Amino acid sequence: MKPSDLITKNSSRLFEQIYDHMMNRIERGDWKENEKLPSIRALAEELNVHRLTVFKAYQLLKQNGKVYVRDKSGYYVMPENKPLFQRLDYPILSSYVQKSHLSEIHGIPATYQFSQALIDPTLLPNYYFSEYVKKVFDLYPKVLGTYSSVQGDEELRESLACYFSVHEGIQATSDDLLITTGAQQAIDLIAKVLIKPQDVILIERPTYSAAIDIFRQQGGRMIPVEIHPDGYCLEQVELSMKHYRPRLFYLNPTFHNPTGYTVPQEQRKQLVDLAERYQCLLVEDDSYRDIYFGEEPPLPIYSFDTDGWVMYVRSFSKYIAPGLRISAVVTNPSLMKHLLTAKSLADNGTPLLNQKIFLHYFKSERLRKHLEKLRIALNIRKDVMEEELRETGWEWLSPKGGLNLWINLKNKESMEELLAKSIEQSISFVPGSIFDPNRELESWIRLSFSYINEKQIREGMKRFVNLF
Ligand SMILES: Cc1ncc(COP(=O)(O)O)c(C=O)c1O
Repeated sequence: MKPSDLITKNSSRLFEQIYDHMMNRIERGDWKENEKLPSIRALAEELNVHRLTVFKAYQLLKQNGKVYVRDKSGYYVMPENKPLFQRLDYPILSSYVQKSHLSEIHGIPATYQFSQALIDPTLLPNYYFSEYVKKVFDLYPKVLGTYSSVQGDEELRESLACYFSVHEGIQATSDDLLITTGAQQAIDLIAKVLIKPQDVILIERPTYSAAIDIFRQQGGRMIPVEIHPDGYCLEQVELSMKHYRPRLFYLNPTFHNPTGYTVPQEQRKQLVDLAERYQCLLVEDDSYRDIYFGEEPPLPIYSFDTDGWVMYVRSFSKYIAPGLRISAVVTNPSLMKHLLTAKSLADNGTPLLNQKIFLHYFKSERLRKHLEKLRIALNIRKDVMEEELRETGWEWLSPKGGLNLWINLKNKESMEELLAKSIEQSISFVPGSIFDPNRELESWIRLSFSYINEKQIREGMKRFVNLF
């Protein structure tokens, strides 16, 4: 590459062009495995760019496992036969370790399962679900042999668009909706479409841990925004937007996971203003909206947006059927185009059978009844858990919705030891650091009250409290 080949010399993306250039040359065999690459200074002179730009390109190569550094000697080509985990640099490796740690926790066969933010399967609409399965096969005899369109079943998108506009102030047509295989896939597709290595992302602290892993995997730089019982400090949000110019702000403003907090309506409008002013997309993850214990929550942030600064992600896994994995993204046509490309590469469309079964259940009166009962059952479970915590002196805010309590144990003991002791008692919970992009929040834990029944919650909590 000659300097003149660089598309825009003063662009902030120059280092990515150098990264690509070096990748091409390594793949072409200009340098062999374990061979030394040109020094930063030599490459900067050759390409007539600043040394810092080359440094950033080399850092990215290193982070992606393409080169390694020998102390004070420079950058070398990474041999292909090294195991993947040895090739990846710290940030990605650490997220891999953290993620496996979380799945390990979820995999613990505990009797007192407080780590899973999932609905107890006995509270799901199991009994009559088979009726909907039969109905779907009667109505669409070819369903098993048919792929869905990439964007998702038209009938389902229409039904959801209509529901969103009648109940949630979201003015969208079926064309503005994409059906994804769970909200996690939606976040992953959004990250793939919008985030390039080194892009800045604002992210709540704490937040949904898989989102941290997804954004980190894309190479994004995360700037945390603290979430409080009454929302965010908007001055902090504004300063971060002004200073870092983030691509997006990922937020879960309604019965937030893990805290249960809800961002008040007034802030929702202001967030849209800030997004517009600083050209930062808001990715609103609304996976817990329907699980409220008193009043309905404020309308989604999306409903205050008129210019396309909010992308809306709505999962139905939490209260209808995690097994169907149906979620929707609402966005404007220009972003939709890119999402469709990413979705077609990911799986070419969510299974049609799942979409049709979901559609017919979603449209039924039974779903509304199921939800009413579910809210009551979950509220009782939450009350039981809170009763058992009353004498502990720990701090938490009683959530008005969601599936979890977010508790400050004010504990000096190491979280690993506490987890080990709990597991001996057949109790599982999630340490707070897993939800923290900075991997701190050491004295916090998340306890889910949704997976086991009242009797088990009471027994498990008595055992848990006795560990201290
Ligand atoms: C905030 C949040 N978003 C997304 C998801 C993933 O949802 P899904 O099961 O639809 O992929 C979860 C699941 O725990 C969640 O808590």
